[in-house]
Amino acid sequence: MNDEKWVATELMHTVPAQSPTGPVSIPYLRAAGTSLVLDARGTGVPVIVHWGGDLGDLDSAMLHAVADASVPAISPSSIDVPLRLTLLPTLAEGWSGRPGISGFRPGQSGAAALDLRLIEVRVGGVPTAGPASSGTQTVAIFLTDAAAQMAVRTDLELSVEGVLRLRHTLTNTSTDPAASSFELGSLDVILPVPDRAGELLDFTGLWTHERRPQRTTLGHGVWSRESRHGRPGHDDSYLMVAGTLGFGFRSGEAWATHLAWSGDKRAWAEKSALGYSALGSGELLAPGELSVASGASHTTPWTVAVYSDAGLDGLSARLHPWIRTWSTITAPRPVVLNTWEAVYFDHDLPTLARLADAAAVVGVERFVLDDGWFTGRSDDRRALGDWFVDPVTWPSGLHPLIEHVHAAGMDFGLWVEPEMVSLDSDVARAHPDWVLGGMADDLAGADGAGAGAASPALTWRFQHVLDLGNPETFDWVFARLTALLTEYPIAYLKWDHNRDLLAGSAHRQTAALYRLIDAVRAAHPGIEIESCASGGARIDLGILERVDRVWTSDTNDPLERQQIQRYTSVLVPPEYLGGHLGAATAHTTGRTSELSFRLATALFGSAGIEWDLTQANEAELVQIAEWISRYKQLRPLLHSGVVVRADPSDLAIQLHGVVSPDQNSALFTQVALAAPRAALPERMRFHGLAPERRYRVAPLVLGAPPRTIQDAAPAWLVEPDAYGGAAGDGVGAGGAVTLTGAVLALVGLPAPLLAPEQAALFTVYSVD
Ligand code: GLA
Repeated sequence: MNDEKWVATELMHTVPAQSPTGPVSIPYLRAAGTSLVLDARGTGVPVIVHWGGDLGDLDSAMLHAVADASVPAISPSSIDVPLRLTLLPTLAEGWSGRPGISGFRPGQSGAAALDLRLIEVRVGGVPTAGPASSGTQTVAIFLTDAAAQMAVRTDLELSVEGVLRLRHTLTNTSTDPAASSFELGSLDVILPVPDRAGELLDFTGLWTHERRPQRTTLGHGVWSRESRHGRPGHDDSYLMVAGTLGFGFRSGEAWATHLAWSGDKRAWAEKSALGYSALGSGELLAPGELSVASGASHTTPWTVAVYSDAGLDGLSARLHPWIRTWSTITAPRPVVLNTWEAVYFDHDLPTLARLADAAAVVGVERFVLDDGWFTGRSDDRRALGDWFVDPVTWPSGLHPLIEHVHAAGMDFGLWVEPEMVSLDSDVARAHPDWVLGGMADDLAGADGAGAGAASPALTWRFQHVLDLGNPETFDWVFARLTALLTEYPIAYLKWDHNRDLLAGSAHRQTAALYRLIDAVRAAHPGIEIESCASGGARIDLGILERVDRVWTSDTNDPLERQQIQRYTSVLVPPEYLGGHLGAATAHTTGRTSELSFRLATALFGSAGIEWDLTQANEAELVQIAEWISRYKQLRPLLHSGVVVRADPSDLAIQLHGVVSPDQNSALFTQVALAAPRAALPERMRFHGLAPERRYRVAPLVLGAPPRTIQDAAPAWLVEPDAYGGAAGDGVGAGGAVTLTGAVLALVGLPAPLLAPEQAALFTVYSVD
């Protein structure tokens, strides 16, 4: 960003509040190749004239010219003034697409036809609450509808990294306490995208198959994705990306939005016959869910919006550094051993102590005791909500296990599911009114599974949700968590959430969840938290502000994981993405994979193990130990670098990697998901390196080399490096090569012919 330019623009356009003719302002935000021009002249709701590629230095006269030149024609059979898509479009402006705001006042007929007027524009100043990097440029827009007694403040912020975020604050300005509330239907951020952004990418999925990409071509109408799970869900739309035709990982323009909210939400793309295209997002509110009383305000979650002229990688290249400026992560991501798939509910001290010993030997740094440790939790039908250590399995509490884990040199983590309750629990029996959706019939059933169809509230995984919006419930859950964290030296909570709400207010519950995590963190500074929701059903930038890791998916099958991690990491940096080495035969799919493929896959994230290591043989344990020691060496690169993904010409063969921010080093992996389409696959092209610098590329073998189906490896993997480097321990052979970054990106290297479900790793170091 050009700081001087920014200051000049800011001074030029700071305007007095309440100017009689309305403000005269064209805020111009620029950072990291992104520009935003906002026409905030006059008294109408401001218009985003441009959000996209950098427009360069524009002085005040040029900004006025840009804004003037953007006023469109008046089409036949239309309103009699040029139609503009404003920051908060409504019918009052002639916008018959999805409106930016909807709601009503009880007792008044019809929906509130808001006609908002601009009264003030504030440019610059400190960023508003929530995560923001220093140097963030801010604009606050103040709108009012005096007759309707409503006001809206819209905040726009552009970070140094080029990440834009917007939110609205709605105020019911009526001063008469007896006057009616405003029943909010929706309050959304709507951003214009150019017509050429005609191809849409968003995501869907299901348990153990999160973040499946889906593409569509925008026709006239609305493509809308809605979550009513009370959490984003396995099918979360995640990122709504509109791009130029055929945009990929490395090419094409792309405009993306994401709502930083962990409850119900909707995201859409609308191409209107009126001549505008837009991306919209906001919290999804049920009728009557959000009522704004006289004198009260409501602030929406942030919509995070990113532009890229270099495909999806360009989005990540802005999002990841921005997230890292406010991330709670302060220490290297420890290698985790999670007990879930090793022992499930069968907890006993000798077994877990043996598992901890095996973990310590291979280099694990954190031992996480998963579900099954609390009173009566012998299966998933009971005991959630009673957060007391089971006195039968653990007569001396968790102390002996934690001491054992500490003595072995690891820290200790514990699984909890604080928002949930089983009907077969002391807390549900004592406080039936704390259960969202009611439970009287279920109690009558008393088998923990509910009484079936007649039940007022459905069970899901045989459990219910606690009403955290009830202060008594909230206090009780907080007290239980605090008691555990005070009694035991727990470094880490795996915070799970294993059902949809299906009752109560998702808004109230999500707000309470945020308060609860914030309170736990404040009371126990240094505690780390992993967000899990039956795997990856709650991964969003609202929760990410509060946690240090996300459980990316319940599947440890590397074939599934390659895709899940690939797409989850478009938004979330790899250091957050928990990835575990599982058993050879995946518990979730029954598919069997070789150790080298499992190791190479779990390497590209926050690595861990979820396997009964006491069942692994000596050779496997040696390979796992070697993998962990390499992970520890590579961790600084993997968790700070730029994520790079080549666009595959053959979907079965994928290349991705991480390049250090100084472009000195990189780690890449070539992955064969299935058999290739041609005898010789596309050359491996290593992107993201400095074009003029020379790099030595060598294979890295972790455990066993990947299996290949080739009569001979490519020459460069056999021949000694012409620049004198020692032969590497190659992919079935030895070899290395030194070439410039430009050659590696544009010419590439012939790939080894990997068998299906194999991955080859390559280290890349600058030799200049
Ligand atoms: C969920 C999580 C798993 C595990 C189990 C325990 O399914 O996603 O990782 O913790 O709960 O019950």
